Amino acid sequence: VKSIGVLTAGGDAPGLNAAIRAIGKSAIRKHGLSVVGYLDGFRGLMDRRHVRLDSEALSGILIKGGTILGTSRDKPHKMRVGDQTLDMTAAMVETAANMGVEAIVCLGGGGTQKNAKRLADAGMNVVTLPKTIDNDVWGTERTFGFDTALSIATEAVDRLHSTAHSHHRTMVVEVMGHNTGWLALGAGLAGGADVILIPEIPYSVEKVAETLMARKASGSRFSIVAISEGAISTEEKAELDRLLAAKGDAGDSDEKAAAKQAIAAYEHELTQSTTMLAERLEALTGIASRTTILGHVQRGGSPSAVDRLLATYMGADAVQAIVEGDYGKMIATSGRHIVRLPLEEVAGRRRTVPLDHKWIEAARTLGVGFGD
Ligand code: F6P
Repeated sequence: VKSIGVLTAGGDAPGLNAAIRAIGKSAIRKHGLSVVGYLDGFRGLMDRRHVRLDSEALSGILIKGGTILGTSRDKPHKMRVGDQTLDMTAAMVETAANMGVEAIVCLGGGGTQKNAKRLADAGMNVVTLPKTIDNDVWGTERTFGFDTALSIATEAVDRLHSTAHSHHRTMVVEVMGHNTGWLALGAGLAGGADVILIPEIPYSVEKVAETLMARKASGSRFSIVAISEGAISTEEKAELDRLLAAKGDAGDSDEKAAAKQAIAAYEHELTQSTTMLAERLEALTGIASRTTILGHVQRGGSPSAVDRLLATYMGADAVQAIVEGDYGKMIATSGRHIVRLPLEEVAGRRRTVPLDHKWIEAARTLGVGFGD
């Protein structure tokens, strides 16, 4: 191998530049390869938009947040080209080959693993790294980006304590994480939240209100509720299950499309539910409540030392995999070791929080409520 490519796809996460740097430096220094970076994810590969990643381009980026290459959520098999949506997978493989790029490293979350597998199936030599603040990529204990976001969210929960305490309020704080609860659970536990609501455990609003009232009765005049953006109540889950079953039962393609639309509309409605939860808790408990939605601040800024380390050793191993011809793999962590998992195993799966996870068990022991 003489020339390799790198791209970053999906939502950005702290540590991407550390990974790009590690891939570039080890490729250039250790193996004498040349490296190009495609801009804005798979779209740059399609459009042949790229930059040369030489030593100068890689210098000083370790501590930077975001990605110097830019990113997008475009998928190779569904690219907007003019006013059409086209499958450009084969064209991308050809573009890379025409440029003399023999292997490519794709940095991304669950969606990127699926898209990278599509390129691998079409004949491209692919290796991937797992990055996302959600920590939900199948097969790896950690994704880079998670540790930084966890610190930011924890600091936010910390800071809410003094104002909650001063005003005797319930503070409901929404944490990112997509459909998994790693970030809300971690930040809630580390930040001393009294209630933690995650998608893996559907909650009852009445149960949450009971926990808040019990705290008040025991003399605590404020509470912190950390809620994952994907958490749903038992009623919401029942409605979602009903809509999913309707989609399963749908006969022709029109019915299926309508059922899909109904699910999307309901999921959109659910994104508003944190503010509604705070209002319902106030009505049920009589305790004034406020909502804080942390949002994209959790993805911003310089990566933590832990994320820099993870991104660096994973990036170096991605190049090692390429040099060994060990393609179609995602670099993952397992205990103290790096492992390489086949993309077939990873793509299309999500790592949710196991209900017997040590963080959940510890939280329950400490009296944290999960609304169940
Ligand atoms: O996957 C990372 C993530 O930040 C999720 O936690 C969140 O649901 C989503 O991306 C937000 O996406 P966007 O940046 O497109 O609004």
